[in-house]
Formats: sequence, C-alpha cells, structure tokens
Amino acid sequence: MLLLAPGRTALSQRSPLLFSGNSNPQLAEEIAKRLRVHVGKALVSEFRNEETRVEIGENVRGSEVFVLQSICKSPNGKGVNDAVMELLLMIDALRRASAARITAVIPYYGYAKQDKKTKGREPISAKVIANLLKVTGARRIVTMDLHAAQIQGFFDIPVDNLFAEPVLCNHLKREGLCDDKIVVVSPDAGGVHRAEQFAKRLNSSLAIVFKRRPEPDISEVTDIVGDVTGRVAVIVDDMISTGGTLAKAAEAIKARGATKVYTVASHGIFAGEAVKVLEDSAIEKVLFTNTIPFENGAKHPKFVQLSIAQTFADAINRITTNRSVSELFAGEETPNGVVGAPAEPVAVS
Ligand code: R5P
Repeated sequence: MLLLAPGRTALSQRSPLLFSGNSNPQLAEEIAKRLRVHVGKALVSEFRNEETRVEIGENVRGSEVFVLQSICKSPNGKGVNDAVMELLLMIDALRRASAARITAVIPYYGYAKQDKKTKGREPISAKVIANLLKVTGARRIVTMDLHAAQIQGFFDIPVDNLFAEPVLCNHLKREGLCDDKIVVVSPDAGGVHRAEQFAKRLNSSLAIVFKRRPEPDISEVTDIVGDVTGRVAVIVDDMISTGGTLAKAAEAIKARGATKVYTVASHGIFAGEAVKVLEDSAIEKVLFTNTIPFENGAKHPKFVQLSIAQTFADAINRITTNRSVSELFAGEETPNGVVGAPAEPVAVS
C-alpha cells in the first residue's frame, strides 16, 4: 500500500509546482494565474562575489516541478549567462530536494543559433546547453519555436516544442491581415517551412527573401522569389535580434512594390540598437510574443507584444495530466488565441 503524507496524492493527480528564475518573472506569474497555482518561493540572487545563489523556499519532495526561465537578459539587468546559471542551479536544488520530476520550461531557448559548426574550431553551443540541462537533472523540456527543430535531438529526454503561430495568426486575422490581402514572406531560406505554415493558416500566398551574412549580425538581401507587388507583406521570423534581417527585408520588399510591411516573430530579443533600427525602418508594426520581456512597450507604439501564457499553461496542464500536447496545435482557433481544447485549470488536490 502506498502511504502518503496527509494532503498528498499520487504524482499525476497533484498540482504542479511552478518556480521561476529572474529572466521572465512576469510570464511565470501569468502562467501561474492561468493554472491557478502560485509561483513557488525561491531566492534567486547572487553572493557578493557575483556567483549565483539559489534557495528553494518550499517543500518539493515527490512533486512534479516546472522551472520557468528564458535564456535571455533579465529585467533586473542580469545577462544571458546568468539566466543559464540560475536555471541550472534551480534544477540542481530541486533535484537534491527530492522533486519527483523536473521540467525546464524555457520559452526562449538561447544559444540556439549555434546549433552546428559553420567553420572549424567553433562550439555547438545549443548542444552544450542541452548537456548541462540533462546532467543537472531536467527530465523534460518545454520550449517554444526552437531556432532549429533538430535541437530536440540534442536531448535524450522529452522535448515539447510549442508554437506561437496560432496566437500570432489569430492576431493577424483580427487585424484583417489574411487571405489574398497579404503575402506571407520568409526573410531567409531557413525560414521557408515556418512561413509556409503561416501562409497555410492565413490562406495566403508565399514569397521568399534570400539573404547572406557577410559577417555575424550583418545581413544583406540578395534576391526575392514570389510576387509582393500591390500587396501587404507579412514577414515571419522566429526571432528578432539586431533587427537587421527584418529591416533589410522590409526595405527590399517595399522596393519590389509591396504596399505595407508587417513583421511577426516568436522571440523579441532586440539586441543593441534593434528597437531604433526597426523604428526607423519601413515596417508598419512589429509583432512578437512575451517569451522574452519587453520593457517600455508603451513608448514604442510600433511594437506589439502578445502573450503566449495560455499556450504554456495549457501545455503544463496537459503534461501534468498525461494528455497530448500536440493536440493543442491541431484544433480550431479559440477567442483567446489558442487552438485546441480551451484551457482548463489543473486539478488542485
Ligand atoms: C536567422 O536564421 C534567424 O531566423 C533570424 O532571421 C535572425 O536571427 C534575426 O537576426 P537579426 O535580427 O540580428 O537580423
């Protein structure tokens, strides 16, 4: 007979525990609200010598635990590498505190662009991050729009790669940006599959911009395939880093006769002068999600941030109750921007 402490039930029937590092606490709060749980107490700060300091403030023994941390800069000023270290130390602390299963929820999986050697003597950084997560004790990864889907293969544990596409497409449809009014544009050859998926969901045609990178973080448009003349173009990308790819693509598309250019991306990194680059560009609106925090949104009317909290809440709910996650992306659209079954709160024991 299984003996459980009073108030405790078997793993699959119990509320999950959700903890957050410092990189995206607002998203963690939004997800927790939708799951009707609270963000677990945890001290995630640093020692005077700047080493990361973590202390979990709640009992996690035998629990299903989710740790949310995007691999990006934190609103408190900490850098990308601090985000990685916080995540690893939180997982380690949870494992040593006897959590039953630890899932790393990484809305934006950083270091993903370095997913292969492009020349000799380079690291494969995306694989290093995967190794660290696995060795530290993560037993499942939940992420969104990995830069390259094959990064899933860097892990030998389950990876749920969620999609922002339904949320972004719902918004575009609400704005009337669909059907033959628009042409969906991929800003490079690598993004064609993603753009095709958007074009299908929006019932629109497709065009492709070809770009080259003479050096890291610099892009140049070399060609455009497909007709953009007289249409509103919607450029679809997975991430915005320096903004150069989108700004240059928008300029080239406009020069080919597009009437207006909108851009959508899952992850808004906005490195360096990206916000200014995009503000000064030919782009009407820059749409992106809150996988990465964006501060001072009110000061930048061209920038529209959409919440993907519901998608993550649904996925966590389904993982906790052993239901399909892929079903989330197979159904009809709902008013809250998520496809599939409407969000249900996780059963609270
Ligand atoms: C490239 O493969 C990616 O999909 C993005 O197009 C790229 O990372 C965007 O970078 P940036 O904003 O610096 O041009």
